[in-house]
Amino acid sequence: MKRKDLLSIRDLKKQDILALMESAKQMKTAVQHPSKREFLHLNQAMITLFYENSTRTKASFTLAGKYLGMHTTDLAVSTSSVQKGECLLDTGKTLDQMGIQVVVVRHNHTGAPHLLAENMGAHVINAGDGSNEHPTQALLDLFTMLEQRGSVEGKKVAIVGDIAHSRVARSNFFCLQEMGAHVVFAGPETLLGGVHQLGAKTTTDVREAVADADVVMALRIQLERQKANNFPSLAEYQEFFGITEDLMRYAKKDALIMHPGPVNRGVELTNSLVDGQSSVILQQVQNGVAVRMAILNSLLEGEA
Ligand code: NCD
Repeated sequence: MKRKDLLSIRDLKKQDILALMESAKQMKTAVQHPSKREFLHLNQAMITLFYENSTRTKASFTLAGKYLGMHTTDLAVSTSSVQKGECLLDTGKTLDQMGIQVVVVRHNHTGAPHLLAENMGAHVINAGDGSNEHPTQALLDLFTMLEQRGSVEGKKVAIVGDIAHSRVARSNFFCLQEMGAHVVFAGPETLLGGVHQLGAKTTTDVREAVADADVVMALRIQLERQKANNFPSLAEYQEFFGITEDLMRYAKKDALIMHPGPVNRGVELTNSLVDGQSSVILQQVQNGVAVRMAILNSLLEGEA
């Protein structure tokens, strides 16, 4: 189904997700082989509007747009009129007059992309809103799992870390649930808030979460979003919840290690796991470009 915006993974049904995965497979060839890039959306324009820091998401959207032949530009929020007090809606309506077809937005407030979507003619893509959702990350994570394992149906995915503040955790939960995988969240009790209501399985025993897991996904401790002292220190977090080789012995033998990045090396994961054989962290990054090309293509399909 053709839609205007991509705001939440919950707006996508299994068949929509599978169609995006199929398209991303084709797009991946274009990421790896410059000569295979077909400029499907030549001259259409995209702007990235990031109110929070980003390396992977912003760069991969920009490149995804360029590989499709689009004009891409970034509104550097820190040097824009936002610093003069301009509100989000005025910024959005202003950009909407500049001939753009897509705006990719990241904001520290839940619902900011939804507000823009209602008030802009351009397609709006949610690149992360507060602790709410990060749908394109969940799709690239799924693509990586499918590429490695063929299917996620019936597979156990352990997601470990700062669940309470993580839009990646929430979007992955909705996406993986729709695709038939079993998700278990693990972390300190203070970082598991909010997901109980979703009906998610949670535990403070990381070994229980990792036991027989097909995928172990570590999440960054988001100190910038934490208002309380949710745990005594990063060293103590690492001691009880850090993923180590020892802990991975409880997982399936060929279990994948994933992390959306950026990694606090030695906190969420040991250095050797980040760089080891089971890690698909860099594949996630590469797949992010292909998946975002597929998303842009699906929103723009049929538009001249
Ligand atoms: C995540 C984000 O910003 O939500 N990173 C990402 O997009 N790859 C996770 C994080 O910041 O920890």
